[in-house]
Amino acid sequence: PKILLLGAPGAGKGTQSSNILEHYDVEHVTTGDALRANKDMETEHGTPREYMEAGELVPDPLVNEIVKAALEDAGGFVLDGYPRNLSQAEYLSEITDLDLVALLDVSKEELVDRLTGRRMDPETGDIYHTEFNMPDDEEIRGRLVQRDDDTEETVRERLRVFDENTQPVIDHYEESGELVRIDGEQTPEEVWSDLDAAIEDVA
Ligand code: AP5
Ligand code: ZN
Repeated sequence: PKILLLGAPGAGKGTQSSNILEHYDVEHVTTGDALRANKDMETEHGTPREYMEAGELVPDPLVNEIVKAALEDAGGFVLDGYPRNLSQAEYLSEITDLDLVALLDVSKEELVDRLTGRRMDPETGDIYHTEFNMPDDEEIRGRLVQRDDDTEETVRERLRVFDENTQPVIDHYEESGELVRIDGEQTPEEVWSDLDAAIEDVA
C-alpha cells in the first residue's frame, strides 16, 4: 500500500514506520532521515544542516527531489515527514496517489516531553526514550545519542513551524475526507494496533 503518515514532531512517525516495515512490504521514505544522511551537502540553497539545526524547513526544491527519486523506485511505501507545507502537498499529488492518509494525533505538551527525552541508537537507528522506552542491554544504553535538533529551543521552533506550515496540510486532507485520525497518545502498541487496522482496511 501507499501510506502517508502525518504527525507533529515527536508524534511517533518514526516509531510506527518501523512497525509498518516489519509487517508490510513497503519502502520507508523519510525526508528527515534522508536529509540527516546528507546534512553537509552543498546546494544552491546552502546545506540542510543550517535549516535543520534551527528547526526550519529545508527549501522545497531539494526535498521534492528527494521524494520524487525515492517514490520512483518504490512500489508500496510509507511516507514520513513529507509533505510539510501546502506547496509540497500539491507537488505530491502530482507524482503519486495514496491509499491511506493517517494522522498520529498528539497534544503539544506531550510532544515536548517526547522530543527532549528521545535517544537514538546510532548503529541501528532504533528510537528510544529516557522515560518511556529504554533498552535493557547496557551496551546499547551506553551508546545512545540525542538528535541535534532535540534541544528544548529547537523543539519549540519545530512545533511553531509545524503549526504554521504543516497544520494547513492536515486541514487539507481533513477537508478532502481522506484523513484517518489515530490517537497517538496511547501506548506505542495501542497506536500500532489502530494504525494496522487502518492499513488493513485499504491493503
Ligand atoms: P524529521 O526527521 O521528519 O522530524 P520531525 O517531523 O520533527 O519528527 P521526529 O522525527 O522528531 O518525530 P517522529 O514523529 O518520527 O517521532 P518518533 O517516533 O521519533 O525532520 C527533521 C528536520 O528535517 C525538520 O525540522 C526539517 O528541518 C527537515 N525536514 C524534514 N522533512 C522536511 C520536509 N518535507 N520539508 C522541509 N524540511 C524537512 O518518537 C519521538 C519520541 O517519542 C521517541 O523518543 C519515542 O520513543 C517516543 N514515543 C513514540 N511513540 C510513543 C508513544 N506512543 N508513547 C510514548 N512515547 C512514544
Ligand atoms: Zn522521525
